[in-house]
Amino acid sequence: MKPRKIKDNIYWMGSVDWDRRLFDALIPLPDGTSYNAYLIEGSEKTVLIDTVDPSRVGELMAQLENVPKLDYVVSLHAEQDHSGSIHNVLSKYPDAKLITNPKAKGMLMDLLRIPEESFVTVDDGETISLGDKTLKFIYTPWVHWPETMVAYLEEDKILFSCDFFGSHIATTNLFVSDEGRVYEAAKRYYAEVMMPFRSIIKKNLEKLAAYEMAVIAPSHGPVYPRPSFILDAHKDWVEGPPKNLVVLPYISMHNSTKQMVDFLVSSLTEKGVTVEQFNLTVTDIGKLAMALVDAGTIVIGTPTVLAGPHPKAVYAAFLANALRPKAGFLSIIGSYGWGGRTVKILSEMTSNLKAEVIEPVLAKGLPTEADFKALDNLAETIAAKHKEHGFK
Ligand code: FEO
Repeated sequence: MKPRKIKDNIYWMGSVDWDRRLFDALIPLPDGTSYNAYLIEGSEKTVLIDTVDPSRVGELMAQLENVPKLDYVVSLHAEQDHSGSIHNVLSKYPDAKLITNPKAKGMLMDLLRIPEESFVTVDDGETISLGDKTLKFIYTPWVHWPETMVAYLEEDKILFSCDFFGSHIATTNLFVSDEGRVYEAAKRYYAEVMMPFRSIIKKNLEKLAAYEMAVIAPSHGPVYPRPSFILDAHKDWVEGPPKNLVVLPYISMHNSTKQMVDFLVSSLTEKGVTVEQFNLTVTDIGKLAMALVDAGTIVIGTPTVLAGPHPKAVYAAFLANALRPKAGFLSIIGSYGWGGRTVKILSEMTSNLKAEVIEPVLAKGLPTEADFKALDNLAETIAAKHKEHGFK
């Protein structure tokens, strides 16, 4: 794809990756992604903000063919999907300086072996002049690595946000045209990589509130011509209270746990609680992460196998613990044959969650009437706690 004009002297460059289906060998990308770089031509200096994933370097270099001179390359984030083509760009423009912050400089030297003499480092709030345009660097750590920062083009009120506010979507639309679709993709992205850093992201959002924004240009997905849409969405995900929602990842080997899941889902529904259940043999882990953004309660359903939870339930518990959603309550349901340490192991695995544990329900073999009564009590307790805490 050729460079695309955002406004006079400001261009999108990069690559739309329609076929990529996995990121970091972990995160599903059902809609592909893009790696966005941006070219700004000031009256005196020209700057490229970020590069592209190394797999797409040819496309970026073709776009730069008609750019005779680059004064600066900015690296907002050291991860390779944005930094991985810096070597190639600096080879074409040997006089260009690589602008980043000191933490990112160290990481780029470690990850890509970029020589120290290539760098100019900037402090938080520092500006560089491009002549008629001024680029300001604002540190926004942990979106989603410790070195991440954004750049604000003062005269045009454009925020170049790198991963922050990004969405994994492959599209030919330069600007967001369907906010509903981008909302889903951006929420998935937030859930998968940003959610663990909620308290720091809240501070970053407060810091950015001081800047008037006409456009937000992220490093993945389309550009936002209406920034309030994605800013408000992030505020809700980060600060909004959990919803009246139970997220129930489960697995069943011989249908006992499945019977318990079905009963609990029905009972919760009768009591006015929304449930999203995820069969861990087939679930898209990104969808589970998205649901965790709003979960009021997490219930893990698992049989006991090899004296503990099923390995797929262990994976779900590990994920929930790592993502640190704001859920207020946690419980476990499932069946066992003769014993085991399922509850103890899962409880220890979820210590990051600041959630109150509600008494688990474990059935020996097929669930009995007493077990179903206990599940009904669990549903009643969850519904009452959601109401008490104002989860809507
Ligand atoms: Fe898009 Fe953290 O890289």
